[in-house]
Amino acid sequence: MSTMITDQTAEAAVDRSRTETGRRKLFVKSYGCQMNAYDATRMADVLAPEGYDETGDIAEADLVILNTCHIRERASEKVFSELGKIREIKLDRAAAGRETTIAVAGCVAQAEGKEILRRQKAVDLVIGPQSYHRLPEMLRLSKLGPVVETDFPVEDKFDHLASPAREKVVSRGVSAFLTIQEGCDKFCTFCVVPYTRGAETSRPVSKILDEATHLVEAGVREITLLGQNVNAFHGVDEGGAICGLAGLVARLSHIPGLLRIRYTTSHPNDMADDLIEAHRTQPALMPFLHLPVQSGSDRVLQAMNRKHGTRDYIDLIARIRAERPDIALSSDFIVGFPGETEAEFQATLDLITQVGFASTFFFKYSVRPGTPGAELDDQVPEDVKSERLARLQKLTDAQRHAYNASAVGKVMPVLFEKKGRHPGQIAGKTPYLQAVQVDGPAHLIGTEALVEITGTSTNSLFGSLAEPISSTEGAP
Ligand code: SAH
Ligand code: SF4
Ligand code: F3S
Repeated sequence: MSTMITDQTAEAAVDRSRTETGRRKLFVKSYGCQMNAYDATRMADVLAPEGYDETGDIAEADLVILNTCHIRERASEKVFSELGKIREIKLDRAAAGRETTIAVAGCVAQAEGKEILRRQKAVDLVIGPQSYHRLPEMLRLSKLGPVVETDFPVEDKFDHLASPAREKVVSRGVSAFLTIQEGCDKFCTFCVVPYTRGAETSRPVSKILDEATHLVEAGVREITLLGQNVNAFHGVDEGGAICGLAGLVARLSHIPGLLRIRYTTSHPNDMADDLIEAHRTQPALMPFLHLPVQSGSDRVLQAMNRKHGTRDYIDLIARIRAERPDIALSSDFIVGFPGETEAEFQATLDLITQVGFASTFFFKYSVRPGTPGAELDDQVPEDVKSERLARLQKLTDAQRHAYNASAVGKVMPVLFEKKGRHPGQIAGKTPYLQAVQVDGPAHLIGTEALVEITGTSTNSLFGSLAEPISSTEGAP
């Protein structure tokens, strides 16, 4: 930890942000991946016993946490424009006699540390993702002067993070995230994650089962297991043996009331045989797989240090489809990696055509300081990247539309998660992670029901209720 004050002085700190009721307001804004979204909930959980209630209105917040993402330059720079706006709010509140604490968390906090304080003096606390369990202590310290906490502590934060109250879980909905693995040892040459999240670590199986059980008892019906390389999971079980992701899924599937299990994000090299098989043998494991390949060119894949070729990926997909023919596939792509030629980009389009993805995410290559990719000559000009991105988007849009259109006329189980866009509608997801809007009663939220898909729009399917198939009680 690099603080500018000592622990002793912190105890003497007078906290002037408490209201007469003793409760304070917390506003958390999260950017980036689902792990950040999960972390945001855990930060709120650790602060609840400290007297913080969440608010959606930043102007009334006594504590604002920006939970940041460093993955691409634009995401990273956005933090500073956002901080400029929050500083204005802090000044307005100060004029009205109210104190505001500004904390920067997440991957920009980890990567930039003190630099954040230099660029924005209104910031009180910079805290990296491995230290969220120390938030209360760091907040107290920050009353005496700016604090930067970006060490990778020896203790495991998950052992110290408070569980959410039952009402909290319920208010967050029937589908929940659960981080089981953090960090990355893969060192793809474009990526900051191994630097911002550190080395790969897996949580113990019993801790994950406890957390999952707590979520399901409070009304959660779907859990998405999270990790930067989630399929590299190798947690220690109660007997001291190492358990892989397939074993964990099998254990989780015994939790009564847990209808659906998903996991993300996976690396192609960590798709173990038993995990592939689990897509056939485990009914709760949903037939959807996000398996980023990044490029369809072997030279580019090698330069990215992905450690597999296009043939390996295509063979892997064939093996997965052999076990689970209806599986929906999704991937990330980077266009304009240094040195990417037109022919190499074309190879990416060819791979996409060959595999057929239900959904895709694609990004222009963004130079990240400190990564090996930043040292490469031959950066691709922005206009070339933009033009390639547009072609990729056209192809993948067409694939997505075709995929969604192929659902029309089918009957499939939909897990209802919330009210729909219009009164009288409810919204949920198919097993293939497609959003569906249905005319139906709100009490079905939290249950699975059979739906006949009747139509599609750009981002959603439409359907009508067939018979309910689950007797599981709805989320309270
Ligand atoms: N662990 C995940 C990815 C995490 S980052 C995996 O290995 O698949 C999410 C996505 O952001 C990556 O899959 C990649 O497509 C994209 N990405 C990462 N670094 C990037 C960069 N420097 N420029 C552009 N896109 C990037
Ligand atoms: Fe980044 Fe590669 Fe690790 Fe994914 S596998 S987090 S892309 S370094
Ligand atoms: Fe971004 Fe960090 Fe996630 S860089 S994508 S928030 S791991």
